[in-house]
Amino acid sequence: MSKIVVFDHPLIQHKITLLRDCTTGTRDFRILIEEIATLMGYEALRDLPLEMKEIKTPIENTTAPVITGKTIAVVPILRAGLGMVKGILALVPTAKVGHIGLYRDPETHTPHEYYAKLPENIEERTVILLDPMLATGGSAVAAVDYLKKQGVKSVKFMSIIAAPEGLAALIQAHPDIEIYCGHLDEKLNENKYIVPGLGDAGDRIFGTM
Ligand code: PRP
Ligand code: URA
Repeated sequence: MSKIVVFDHPLIQHKITLLRDCTTGTRDFRILIEEIATLMGYEALRDLPLEMKEIKTPIENTTAPVITGKTIAVVPILRAGLGMVKGILALVPTAKVGHIGLYRDPETHTPHEYYAKLPENIEERTVILLDPMLATGGSAVAAVDYLKKQGVKSVKFMSIIAAPEGLAALIQAHPDIEIYCGHLDEKLNENKYIVPGLGDAGDRIFGTM
């Protein structure tokens, strides 16, 4: 059974409203995507494993918990997932970063893989898979399929806006992963864009409209 978190934090909701607004320009859009990723990441990473480290305080020697980035890989789905990477690395700066390149065919809306490069020992890492949009779910399902083929056992998928159709498809295909959504929108339109959504996330991040 998937763990599914749909955020209701006012800071996340406020920033998503700014993202949706078509008067928000590329610079602010990028900043907002990063900020939302950090806020969502704070919750998604709450079960990060800790290891004990010996340190010396001004008072005495002690052992205290530290996070090790060695067990994590941050993997954006290109292009739009790239916009979330810095926001997650702000929390786990030593994590390795992989990339999975997928684009949706404009006619069939099915994903096509064009690039993949993952950090070594990927099968030993928890993968934080990033894509701001979960629409039909085709891209997310394909990315998780790919990760599992490489031996990955633990995936946390983070999307800023999800459609009910995409969320259902991802849960059905991969009931064992964790899914974090900033907001669950109403539906998909006839072109498989999320309604009300924010438009094409990649185009808005990179200014390619
Ligand atoms: C967008 C988005 C997701 C995908 C979601 O990418 O970033 O990857 O569509 O749609 P789906 O759930 O129906 O698969 P797109 O294919 O437009 O590529 P881009 O990021 O390069 O613009
Ligand atoms: N991809 C996007 O960028 N936006 C959508 O609404 C759907 C897919």
